[in-house]
Amino acid sequence: MMQVEVLPDPASLARAGAKHFVALATTAIVARGRFTVALSGGETPRGMHAELARPPFLDQVDWPRVHVFWSDERCVPPDRPGSSFRMARETLLDRVPLPAANIHRMRGEIEPQRAAAQYEQELREFFAGSSERTASGDAGEPPRFDLILLGMGEDGHTASLFPGTPALRELRRWVMAHYVEKLDAWRITLTLPVINAAADVMFLVSGAKKAETLRRVLVDPAPAGAEGLPARMVAPTAGRVVWLVDTPAAALVRD
Ligand code: 6PG
Repeated sequence: MMQVEVLPDPASLARAGAKHFVALATTAIVARGRFTVALSGGETPRGMHAELARPPFLDQVDWPRVHVFWSDERCVPPDRPGSSFRMARETLLDRVPLPAANIHRMRGEIEPQRAAAQYEQELREFFAGSSERTASGDAGEPPRFDLILLGMGEDGHTASLFPGTPALRELRRWVMAHYVEKLDAWRITLTLPVINAAADVMFLVSGAKKAETLRRVLVDPAPAGAEGLPARMVAPTAGRVVWLVDTPAAALVRD
């Protein structure tokens, strides 16, 4: 199921994102005693993080029951500019009463393939035997995050899944490290099987620069080759996708 909500500006987009986060966290904690969320990198989530880190949203989340993961990470140390962990720490994690043990960081500072393998092992241990496993609970089945937050690049990438890259065809591994030619940089990313196992996915997309890509992702009947638009490959098998977009980004999507 997919829902698109258009907000007038980045500030209302941030508030809508925080509101949705709180609602999903409350439901998950009531149902299972915890909320598992994978944060996104990039700049757009900053506003939502700031909203979550102050009243009223700050007081509406049972933070000790929240477990924070990442959808992807840049292969840089956690204190460097560009680190998605550093952005989240500065804008959210240092401002909410979240126990350190609940922060599950991708280790961007170590060799990428090892970091990806370690993260996958951490996911297997964390989700082992929990009700978040997908229905079959099969050992190979990906974990079912309560919420995966995603952004979208102008090229249609999401997480660190870039157009035309082999990572898009990965069906076995849950976490991958790969060298992204166009960035001349290594990235670690959740793969599509994990993203599409989520109970809820929330995209936050802001700005006129994203308008044409958003039209291609949300409106084009069937663009040639889905691998050209990774964001379009996000289609949870038994979950919901909410696109929270601001008016400039939705300029070509409005009916
Ligand atoms: C990253 C993100 C990436 C991001 C998009 C949008 O680490 O950069 O995971 O997928 O969400 O590039 O980024 P902006 O929010 O900065 O536009």
